[in-house]
Amino acid sequence: PAEKFFVGGNWKMNGDKKSLGELINTLNSAKISGDVEVVCGAPSIYLDFARSKLDAKIGVAAQNCYKVAKGAFTGEISPAMIKDCGVGWVILGHSERRHVFGESDELIGQKVAHALESGLGVIACIGEKLDEREAGITEKVVFEQTKVIADNVKDWSKVVLAYEPVWAIGTGKTASPQQAQEVHDKLRQWIKANVSEAVASSVRIIYGGSVTGATCKELASQKDVDGFLVGGASLKPEFVEIINAKA
Ligand code: G3H
Repeated sequence: PAEKFFVGGNWKMNGDKKSLGELINTLNSAKISGDVEVVCGAPSIYLDFARSKLDAKIGVAAQNCYKVAKGAFTGEISPAMIKDCGVGWVILGHSERRHVFGESDELIGQKVAHALESGLGVIACIGEKLDEREAGITEKVVFEQTKVIADNVKDWSKVVLAYEPVWAIGTGKTASPQQAQEVHDKLRQWIKANVSEAVASSVRIIYGGSVTGATCKELASQKDVDGFLVGGASLKPEFVEIINAKA
């Protein structure tokens, strides 16, 4: 139902100019279906490098940014700087930002608002931890996270919602296609009830968590899975297979 299938790669804190340069050459020469939007999340110090080397048809994302345009915030980068490097996207609220670096829903909401106001597209991440799933509160957790994001969005055309169950990230334990579909469907219903029917049917809800070449096709066939956010496998030639999961 949604816009173009969206496949994001999140390189996280991996690679160097040599290995990322090789990966970029692979992506540039790969046959990519015109029906998919591809965006690679580079470490901030390599944003310029990635943008200058990647074909224009492949987008680039920062993996984080701060909530204001400039100032005395040592170590941070702003959406204005990201845009200045020709980069159009930012990943916000990733589980590693939430759980390793302690970012709150409130801060993530502020970042979402500022990044959108600055003209960046936002890949906004949500997802429950294992104990939350086992306690049966997956919906409650992802709805609360989504609400904080939604409260800070005016133009949904620049937002992609990434459902990434924390227990599936980097663990090799991909959510089953049914588990992913169930949460994506619930999220779409939540958006329909709390934002609008139009946004619910157009917004891309993508899945992340141990997506591989082997698991991508069945996941991609689920009605409400509109793409992927890929970590580990986005650093390998296998990423091309995932990009073309629907082709
Ligand atoms: O942003 C990507 C996710 O954290 C998934 O990472 O594919 O290595 O599990 P993964």
